[in-house]
Amino acid sequence: MTFNDLANERYSSRKYLPKPVEKEKLDLILEAGRIAPSAKNLQPSRVLAAVSREALEKIGRTVNLYGAPLGLVVISDRDRAWVRPFDGKGFGDIDSSIVITQMMYSAQELGLGSVWIGYFDPSVLKEELGLSDTEEVSGILAVGYRGDETSNNHGKRRPMSEFAEIV
Ligand SMILES: Cc1cc2nc3c(=O)[nH]c(=O)nc-3n(C[C@H](O)[C@H](O)[C@H](O)COP(=O)(O)O)c2cc1C
Repeated sequence: MTFNDLANERYSSRKYLPKPVEKEKLDLILEAGRIAPSAKNLQPSRVLAAVSREALEKIGRTVNLYGAPLGLVVISDRDRAWVRPFDGKGFGDIDSSIVITQMMYSAQELGLGSVWIGYFDPSVLKEELGLSDTEEVSGILAVGYRGDETSNNHGKRRPMSEFAEIV
């Protein structure tokens, strides 16, 4: 399967079967995230992989994981992230987004569904997870065996003529 096939087939799943993700698959997904590139290779991201009922319930108090049996919480540390000197922009969220993206496509390749979750109160979740002052949750990837079979909604994307310009 080519990468474009994988990208075409992926869609956000919001319904999951009550079947755990095998440890071998979790390890491959985490490895795909671990090797993600980051600005200046500073690697400000770490992942909390919630699989236990206790951990899923804790996260579930703040975040809708859509019943997924695996929640990959991607945390970035602003003290580790590259800061662009021209404008002071910190790259923690950008680096963490690459980690999430690589894990998302790894999950897809392994026959799993996923949905990226950004809708949560960051301060409540930070407290719940006991993060340090310099850490914040950049995003969460809910992963599991799909309980829905819809097709992608890529037809709703901006047309290529608006999206890209070859100059
Ligand atoms: C940064 C980001 C945050 C998102 N946050 C949420 C979310 O909180 N809840 C949700 O159901 N979907 C969330 N999504 C999924 C998007 O709604 C979804 O990717 C988009 O509608 C395109 O649909 P598709 O993924 O099926 O192609 C998020 C996606 C991204 C990239």
